[in-house]
Amino acid sequence: MYLRNPVAVTKSVMHSDQTLHGRFYQLMAGDHARLDNLLAEATDGAGVAATESYRRFREGLLRHISIEEKILLPAAQRRRGGTPLPLAEKLRLDHGALAALMMLPPSASTFRAVRAVLDAHNPLEESPGGVYEECESLIESELDEVLLQCESAPRVPVSPWVDSSKVFVAVKRVLLRAGYDEALLISPGTVPE
Ligand SMILES: [Fe+2]
Ligand SMILES: [Fe+2]
Repeated sequence: MYLRNPVAVTKSVMHSDQTLHGRFYQLMAGDHARLDNLLAEATDGAGVAATESYRRFREGLLRHISIEEKILLPAAQRRRGGTPLPLAEKLRLDHGALAALMMLPPSASTFRAVRAVLDAHNPLEESPGGVYEECESLIESELDEVLLQCESAPRVPVSPWVDSSKVFVAVKRVLLRAGYDEALLISPGTVPE
């Protein structure tokens, strides 16, 4: 189980910013927090435990992205009469950058780039007035159905990472296209970190 059972999630919670967040927000922001913890364990840990944390992070992140791309953004677009959310294109570029980064072997450079993208991306979704709040209000009438779709979303097949300079250069290009500094990634073996 990667996301909490929506049936078991309380209807709403008052956060410290005094915003009343509903079940969808809690589900997705909770998944961000879970993924943040796994990435921290992978970054700070060592050995088998760190490797296992990174394996779970990759799998969880790709599933989270898939839920947003295949369920959330299309549902919001439908409720807007076919017009995508204003931030949809930016979210998709970020998702592409994150998915590309998941192709690289775990290293300080990979972790730094993933953290930088998530630090820019997650607030777009979680902030007051952000994508999750906007979607929650748009999909209000079909909330239960969307939550169940999220809960039952399948695991995304995760390919092994690839230690290749060609892949490294391609990932840098995707990062740049999404608006990030390609220098976040340092070629393995060239600069001590
Ligand atoms: Fe996202
Ligand atoms: Fe997200």
